[in-house]
Amino acid sequence: MSHAASPRELTDHYQITSMILGEGSTSTVHKAIHPQSKVEVAAKLLSLRTDAEEYRTEVLALSRVNHPNIVSFRGHKRLVVNGSLSGVVYMDLLDTNGSQPTLASLLEKEIKFHERSALQILSSLVSALSHLHAEGIAHRDIKPENCSIHMAQLKPILFDLGYAYIHPRCEREGLILRENIGTPLYMSPEVLLSRGYDPFAVDVWGLGILLYGMIYGDVPNSDVESEEELQAVMSSSSGFPFPCCSAYMAKLLGGMLAFQPEKRWTLDMIRAFIDEYSSN
Ligand SMILES: Nc1ncnc2c1ncn2[C@@H]1O[C@H](COP(=O)(O)OP(=O)(O)O)[C@@H](O)[C@H]1O
Ligand SMILES: [Mg+2]
Repeated sequence: MSHAASPRELTDHYQITSMILGEGSTSTVHKAIHPQSKVEVAAKLLSLRTDAEEYRTEVLALSRVNHPNIVSFRGHKRLVVNGSLSGVVYMDLLDTNGSQPTLASLLEKEIKFHERSALQILSSLVSALSHLHAEGIAHRDIKPENCSIHMAQLKPILFDLGYAYIHPRCEREGLILRENIGTPLYMSPEVLLSRGYDPFAVDVWGLGILLYGMIYGDVPNSDVESEEELQAVMSSSSGFPFPCCSAYMAKLLGGMLAFQPEKRWTLDMIRAFIDEYSSN
């Protein structure tokens, strides 16, 4: 090749290998390789019969954002896999089975972070979400399965934008959505209890769940088995307890995991709170 290939050029040439990096509710993610340059990427395969909407959303959202803590987009294409039409989203390869595990796999091993480390990771996540939100995009599916953490660098990477909400304009005062999206265990009370929701406030709840997971090595209500039981538990409660952490951390968790969305902290409030702590 006489010049460095652009991501678009590479997209046509990546070979999807049989190595599966991970699986989610809508997709299978394979390793793909560009045979000449040996560049390796992740190829997320979605069925266009059942998940065309998620494919379109993920491509649109990822192509709009550019942030060190959000997985980088490397192009997309449609192709026939095993006789059915699939959408492929190419992304930077994350070492989720090695140095960059998902928070979900860390929680399975009950791994916790020191408060200072958790705050450093949170700070990057706040920056990533602020960037997404400034582009009018709410993630809507922030959870431990969709966040990898580079353990040596304490660097988180958010991915899986298939359920994102992409606002047509940046102005979003009074926005209320009703389509319930997400995994019950991680849903904010207003989503779980079908009260209508502001997707940007829902993302703050999701960040709160990630922070809770990092501090406690578990997520709230992890012993609750059904969605109905979860609804009953959440509707009869007004907040989670935050034992065995500093008063500072308890306040931060309480602000992010406020059951009432109008009392939940905004990203700017979280940023100011972290900055004040770091300057002391
Ligand atoms: N860029 C990537 N590099 C390596 N593994 C990935 C990457 N993106 C996703 N994965 C793995 O694939 C799994 C499913 O991907 P995800 O985008 O969450 O799909 P779904 O929308 O089906 O949940 C993830 O939990 C993760 O283990
Ligand atoms: Mg996922």
